Formats: sequence, C-alpha cells, structure tokens
Amino acid sequence: LYKATDLPHLTLTNTEKKQKIEALLSPLILTEAQQQQVREVFLEEMRLGLAENPERPSSLLMENTFIPQLLDGTECGEYLALDLGGTNFRVLYVVLKDGKFVEENVDYFEVPRELRLGPGEDLKGSSAGRNFKLGFTFSFPMTQKSLDVGILVSWTKSFNCSGVVGQDAVSMLNKAIHKRDNLNIDVNAILNDTTGTLVMGSYLDHRCALGIIMGTGSNGAYIEKVERIEKWLGKHPEKEMLVDIEWGAFGDNGVLDFIRTQWDNAVDEQSLLVHSYTFEKYYGGKYMGDLFREVLLTLAKEGCLGKGGVGKLATHGSITTTTVSTIEKESMEGEQATARKALEEAELEWEEEDLEVLKYVAGLVSYRGALLVSLLVGVLLQRMERPHCTVAIDGSLYRHHPRIRPLMEHLIAKFAPGHPFDLRQAHDGSGKGAALVAAIADRLHKNGAT
Ligand code: GLC
Repeated sequence: LYKATDLPHLTLTNTEKKQKIEALLSPLILTEAQQQQVREVFLEEMRLGLAENPERPSSLLMENTFIPQLLDGTECGEYLALDLGGTNFRVLYVVLKDGKFVEENVDYFEVPRELRLGPGEDLKGSSAGRNFKLGFTFSFPMTQKSLDVGILVSWTKSFNCSGVVGQDAVSMLNKAIHKRDNLNIDVNAILNDTTGTLVMGSYLDHRCALGIIMGTGSNGAYIEKVERIEKWLGKHPEKEMLVDIEWGAFGDNGVLDFIRTQWDNAVDEQSLLVHSYTFEKYYGGKYMGDLFREVLLTLAKEGCLGKGGVGKLATHGSITTTTVSTIEKESMEGEQATARKALEEAELEWEEEDLEVLKYVAGLVSYRGALLVSLLVGVLLQRMERPHCTVAIDGSLYRHHPRIRPLMEHLIAKFAPGHPFDLRQAHDGSGKGAALVAAIADRLHKNGAT
C-alpha cells in the first residue's frame, strides 16, 4: 500500500524488468532542477503576459476579467447564471439577500456535440414580466473588452463549433435569448469558470484569492495588483483585478518542451485541437486516460506489459481518466479490480505482475499532474504575499481523484514555505460564482462604475 503523498514506486519480483520499466518511464518524473525550471518559466511567462510590449509573445493570456471587487455584502435580488464549458451545461436561479444565497436552484444538462441553448425555454414561465440579470460562465479563452464583452480566442477541450472564434459570446447569447418572446434577460457579465470559482471561494471564505479548475481542462484565476499589470497602466483606477491566467496554454510557445515526453506528443496528436493547450494536456481530465494508455502501449511494445501484442491499447479513448482515478483509489485500499478490468478490456494476454505495472503508471501520471499544478500554485502564493490564502478549487478530476487533494496540500506547502493556505472545494463554483458576479456587476453598475 502507498500513502497518498508517496512518490509512486514499482514492486516487481523480476528486477531486470523493474529496472527497464523505471528507466523507460523516468521522463514522467520531474527532477528537482526541472521543477525549479517550471517555476521560473511560469513566472517569466506571467511577466511577459502582463507586459505592455513583451519582447516575445507569452503563452499565458493573463486576461482582464473586469472584476475589480468581490462581494461587499449588500448584494440583493434574483439572478441567473449559465455555465458552459465543462462536462455539463448548467442553468442556475438564485436569490441573494445581503450578499448571501437565500434560494438556489440548479439544473444540469448534458451537452451533446453542439452548443445548446434549449434550457432558455425552461426559464420562460418564471420570467414573465420580470427582468433578470444573468452571469454567463464561458470556460474558454476570451479577450474581454468589458465585464459583458468576451471575444472567443480559441476553442479548447471538446468544443469546436464553427463561426464563434473572434466573436463576442455575450452578443451571441443575447441574440439567442431575444429570439424567444417572454424572456426579459440581460447578460450583464461573462466570466471564466476559474473566475467564478474564485468569487464563490470568496463567498465561502473572504481570504480566497485564487480559483482553480481541475476538470476536463485546467486553469487558474487570481487577484493581481493593478500596479503590476503593465499592459493596463493608466487604464484602470482600481487597485486590484481578477486575472484569468489561462494556464492550460502554458508552454504552447515551446517553453515547456524540456518536460515534454513522447506520450504527451501522442496525446496531443490525437486530440481534437492539436498543438494547443500544452499544459492542460499534461494532466487534464480529458487527457489523463489517454496519457495512461499511451504509456501502457509503449510498455507493451517494449515487452514490459502483457505477453506479446498490444491488444486495444492503441485505440484512442479506450481508457478514461475515471479508470486512472479508480486504479489510484484501489491502490490506496489494497484492491486491484479496476486494473484487472482494464487489462481484460484491453484484450491483452497478461499476468498478475502486470497489475503492479498499471498501478505504477496510474500513480506516475497522477503525481506529475498534481506536481505541475502545485508548482504554479506555489509561485502564485509567493507572488501574492498574503498572510493566508484560501484556494478555491473545483472540477471533476479534483473531485474524483483520491490523491490530487492530499498531494497538492503536501506539495504546495513544500513549494511555498511560509505562505499558509487552504484548499477549499467550491462546489459548483463556476455556476454559483457567475450568479454572484452578475450581482457584483449589478451593484457596480448602480454605483456608476463601469
Ligand atoms: C480550458 C479553458 C479555460 C478553462 C479551463 C477549465 O483550459 O480554455 O478557459 O478555465 O479549460 O475549464
């Protein structure tokens, strides 16, 4: 059995095979020097992303969210939120009194292949005669011109609808809403899911200054001092601003190639949007199952897994991230039913020791993911210099994987010593956070700010 925070290790009686596997998979274990380099490169990419005239383009968008303030406890009224971009499409109705939720209602819809706006229908009955402000969580990279204008930079994850890149998602949504009679809804804010998570986190704990998603994709948003944002100098009178980092794209310009493995290349080549979102593809929920499968494929080809042949291991998508999470969970409990099932389903001829190999690989890809995110969080905690920082976090990978949380707690503490923090799960933060942002936007508007 291993503890959640242990470095994965392989237990095989055949030492020759063990050494061969360890050598083959060593690129998945980041050395101290590589970890240090990831931190330095991240800081440098942040600097370039915030600069007015960077020497070279940064792979980090460092986007203005136009949210300069969090809740102040005066927010009252009914608000709506739409949340698009993860595994589900969510529609929320909330009532706020003195900045607190007094009523909330969430509906979940699966998004098939195309972007759906059907749920607007369901709002008809209740909306008659009343005007609602709506916060729209659109979990993709955007260039924001104001709190209610968000131009899609590119699609990510499993979305790729034509005719939207370069367009303002708010005006498209408004058009769709206004096609229906009876709907008196104004989209007054567009935001990223990490921003929603941060705002929801600050609702739960006012010390929250960082919001993270580890789900299908991965990203973070944090509170930055405007004086450190060179590209906005003179444009914003506010002291602070929420910044959407878009760290999923970290390394798209090659700066992370020093940790890139042959399996990362394979995952990327088979993904929907190739040669983009380098960092996210290293561990995101949409990709971790494939990464795991690609590593197993290499091991099978090298004679280190199964008794010859690769079975179905070459089939893209045949092993999901859920399988990886479950193998990890079972490793910690001394079980191996899921590893067994994965080998069966891969149609490999296998032996008992192969189960250990699967557990090792699941451990390696999970550990690397948690490590990478923790490195970035460590940098951000040091940069923000807060006496305490609550980190709001959500997403399917974080929720379902048994080791991510304990590992992150352990690693962040190591990477940012002297910077106390808490990881706080902000369940449905991207949706509820959007309703809160709609309320903040409403307050700012009424107070005459922009
Ligand atoms: C992708 C999106 C980003 C989002 C993240 C988590 O990286 O580009 O905007 O925050 O997924 O959903």
